Amino acid sequence: MDVLDAIKNRRSIRNFSDREIEKDCIEQIIESAQWAPSACNKQAWKFIAITDNKIKESLVQNAGSLNLVKSAPLTVAVVYHKKINEYHDANIQSASAAIQNMLLYAHSIGLGSLWVCSYGDEKKISEILKIHKDYRMIAFVCIGYPNVKRKITPKRKKIDHIVSYNQFNFGDVYPSSYNLNNWSFKQAVTYWSDTIYASSPTPDVYMKGIVGKEVLQQVDTVVPILSENDKVLEVFPYAGSFGLNILKKKKLDYSILETDDKILKFFNERKEALNIKQDIKIKLVTDDLKIPMEDSFYDKVLLFERLNFFPEHEKIINEIFRVMKPNGTLILSFKNKFSFTYISHLLSGKGELSPYELLSIRYIKKLLKRFKITKMDGYSLTPITIAKKTFFKTFGRVIMIYCVKKQNE
Ligand SMILES: Cc1cc2nc3c(=O)[nH]c(=O)nc-3n(C[C@H](O)[C@H](O)[C@H](O)COP(=O)(O)O)c2cc1C
Repeated sequence: MDVLDAIKNRRSIRNFSDREIEKDCIEQIIESAQWAPSACNKQAWKFIAITDNKIKESLVQNAGSLNLVKSAPLTVAVVYHKKINEYHDANIQSASAAIQNMLLYAHSIGLGSLWVCSYGDEKKISEILKIHKDYRMIAFVCIGYPNVKRKITPKRKKIDHIVSYNQFNFGDVYPSSYNLNNWSFKQAVTYWSDTIYASSPTPDVYMKGIVGKEVLQQVDTVVPILSENDKVLEVFPYAGSFGLNILKKKKLDYSILETDDKILKFFNERKEALNIKQDIKIKLVTDDLKIPMEDSFYDKVLLFERLNFFPEHEKIINEIFRVMKPNGTLILSFKNKFSFTYISHLLSGKGELSPYELLSIRYIKKLLKRFKITKMDGYSLTPITIAKKTFFKTFGRVIMIYCVKKQNE
C-alpha cells in the first residue's frame, strides 16, 4: 500500500466486529509502534495490550472509559515515562508518533482503529492496569476488524489555511476566549463546522447521557404544539438532535436554516442513518446573517440551545422576527447561566476553548423584547433530577421560553 494512500484512507473506526486479533498480529502492531522516532531514541514507551473482558469492563465501569474500550477486541494503553524527555513535552510527542504508526499499520492490514484520549480517570486506570507510578497515560488505541457500512471521511482544511512560508501569516486565528462577543459569526461557524465531524452521524450521536435526556424532554414538549398545517422553521439544527427527533414523531412542513454546507451534510447523513423520509426544506443563512425567506412566512420557529454557541444574537432574533407570521410562536431554549452547570464551570473550569457561553434569563428576555413571552419551562434542576420539569424553573440547566410575535411591532 502506498504510504500517502494509507495516510489518506485511514479513518477512525468506532464499530468493530467480535473477531479476535491473534497474538502474532498484536505483536506486529506493537512492533510498528516501536519503529517510530522517539526523543533521543529513549523509547521510554510501554504498551499494555488489553484483551481481557473483565479488565475492559472494569475500565468502563470504574474509570469511566469509553464503551468502545469494551467492544474493541484489542485496546492498547500507551504509557510513557513521566520524567524522561519532559522538555517541550517530548515524551508525549514520542508516544504520539508511536500511536500514529499503529493506526497506519493496522489500517494497512485491514484493521480499524481509534485513538482515544478521552480515556477516563487516569488514577483509576492506573490502579486497574497497575501502571507504574512513573509512567503517564497517553492514550488508548482501540483496534479491531471494522464493522461499518461505509467510512465517513471528516473533511480537511484547505492547504492555504494551514501553511504559510517563513513566518506565521494567517488571517483566521480563533480568539482565545469563550466570550461570544470576541468571535465573529463566521469564526464560530468554522469552529463548530470543524468540530462536528469529530463524531460520526450515527443516530445516537449527541444523544447520550444527560444531554440526550434533555434533548428528548424538549422534543416531547414541543411536538404536541406543532401542527401539520404549521410552517415550521428550525434555526441552526447542527447535528439534528432536536429536529430529527421531532420528525421521527410527527409529519410536518419543516424547514431548517443552517450556517454552512458541511454541517448540512452531517445533518443529511444523520437523517439517512435514522431513515427519516420526510422532505425537509433547506435554507442557508447569508454572510450578512439574513434568512433567505420572505417576511411573515413561518407559524412556528424553533431555536434549540444555539444561542449558547453563536454570537450576533440580536441579528439572529431580528431575522427570526421578520420571517415569522404575526402571532407566530418562537420556541427558544438555552443553557442557563444560573444553574449547577455554572457552578461546575466555576469549580472545574470551562473545558476546551470554544465559542460557548451560558446565558441568563434576564439577557434572553431583553433579547426577546419584540415578543410576548407566554410560558417558561426549566429542565434539570440538579444532575439528580435530570430532565424533569422543575418547580424552581429559573435554576434549570436548560430554560425553554415560548413567545409570540407581537402584532403591532
Ligand atoms: C489526540 C487524539 C485524541 C482523540 N481522542 C478521541 C476520543 O477520545 N474519542 C473519539 O471518538 N475520537 C478521538 N480521536 C479521533 C478523532 O476524532 C479523529 O481522528 C478525527 O475526527 C478525524 O477523523 P479521522 O481519524 O477518521 O481522519 C482522537 C484523535 C486524536 C489525534
